[in-house]
Amino acid sequence: MTKKTIVSMPGDGIGKVVLEETIRVLDAAGFKADYVEGDIGWEFWKKEGNPLPERTLKLLEQHKIGLFGAITSKPKDAAAEELGSHLKGKGLVYSSPIVSLRQYFDLDICIRPCKTYMGNPLNFIRRGPGNTIEEPLVDVVIFRQNTEGLYGGVEWTNPPDVVYQGLLSHPKFVQNFGKVPREELSVSTRIFSRRATERILRASFTHARKYGYKSVTVCEKPNVIRETSGMMYKLAQEMQRSEFPEIQLWNTNIDAQMMWLTKNPEDYGVIVAGNMFGDIVSDGFAGLIGGLGFACSANLGEKVAVFEPTHGSAPKYADFPVSIVNPIAMIASACMMLDHIGETVISSRISKAIAEVIMEGRVKTYDMMKMTGAQNVIEKGAASTRQMADAIIEKL
Ligand code: NAI
Ligand code: MG
Repeated sequence: MTKKTIVSMPGDGIGKVVLEETIRVLDAAGFKADYVEGDIGWEFWKKEGNPLPERTLKLLEQHKIGLFGAITSKPKDAAAEELGSHLKGKGLVYSSPIVSLRQYFDLDICIRPCKTYMGNPLNFIRRGPGNTIEEPLVDVVIFRQNTEGLYGGVEWTNPPDVVYQGLLSHPKFVQNFGKVPREELSVSTRIFSRRATERILRASFTHARKYGYKSVTVCEKPNVIRETSGMMYKLAQEMQRSEFPEIQLWNTNIDAQMMWLTKNPEDYGVIVAGNMFGDIVSDGFAGLIGGLGFACSANLGEKVAVFEPTHGSAPKYADFPVSIVNPIAMIASACMMLDHIGETVISSRISKAIAEVIMEGRVKTYDMMKMTGAQNVIEKGAASTRQMADAIIEKL
């Protein structure tokens, strides 16, 4: 096994502790790697006026693989206020470094698996016939387009002349907004490119084929959002027919899907969606398998890949002397990294160890005990972040 170099980016708050524990697990599982730390997050915004310093981009360019914890983001004005005094008034504008990272390296494919761990007390249950209780097994992988759509950043309040004139050329704009004063208009665009849409679709079909999922569901709203959702569904139909005939193509609307996911989540396999709907539907499914403490993800580009839990920096718990948060989302994200670089044996060993700890039910973080997060959860029997990592290492 050749030794890899991984760019570790702890970021802010609980990002730091979950990443540290994850690296302990990776070491214990025998993954040989050097970790170089990449600076990212609030600290660097305050000190340097840039939450994603150039040197971190260089490291990722060089080593290609990143493990990322979480960052803290704040609205524009609050961010400006916290800048170091030497940086204030220089017109610096804060933007989320993880969104910037996805865009800088064109990490356009986001993968978010949501698979039930047997024995997880947080698993979704529903009523079956005759008042029985059923616990459906969820095994869904969401493919979210990660760079375009509503997160593309092309937006205006009081749009400039050229934009306004362009909008006026559309009869629906004239009909629905023609009488609204321009300065009262806010416009956020939803732009899909054919190339990126084909890339996310192909990635989802390829995954379905490789891992034996019977269906790919396009989860959009083509009956209403005709151009963007419509293009995605049409391209999916063409691709399925010409390249993936053995895989069924399903089509659901995002609103209906959010209702169906509590009715028959076990029926879905791979789900593919644009940026916003992918974000929504992946949080929905994550809720069925235990929520933020379990939700892992990969951001893949052509050259660089970054793996991260989907939770944020949970500032409420960041400064606890004994950390209480669940490291499983971060550890499972590291397993996705191992799969990506071909270390599938180590990845399966870690996944199996996580599953065994959950199944056994002896070691549970506060979220798994349905407690409200607080310093005293440890006294009440919840495992700390470290104890959970230790339990996983013991199973290895
Ligand atoms: P959050 O995900 O940080 O926390 C929400 C709540 O979820 C927490 O209060 C906690 O109850 C629970 N939680 C989160 N992670 C957990 C874990 N590993 N184990 C157990 N419970 C966990 O989201 P919130 O509070 O909306 O945002 C906090 C900060 O994080 C904000 O500044 C936000 O901008 C940022 N954020 C960053 C993300 C990223 O780095 N990719 C993603 C989401 C939010
Ligand atoms: Mg989200």
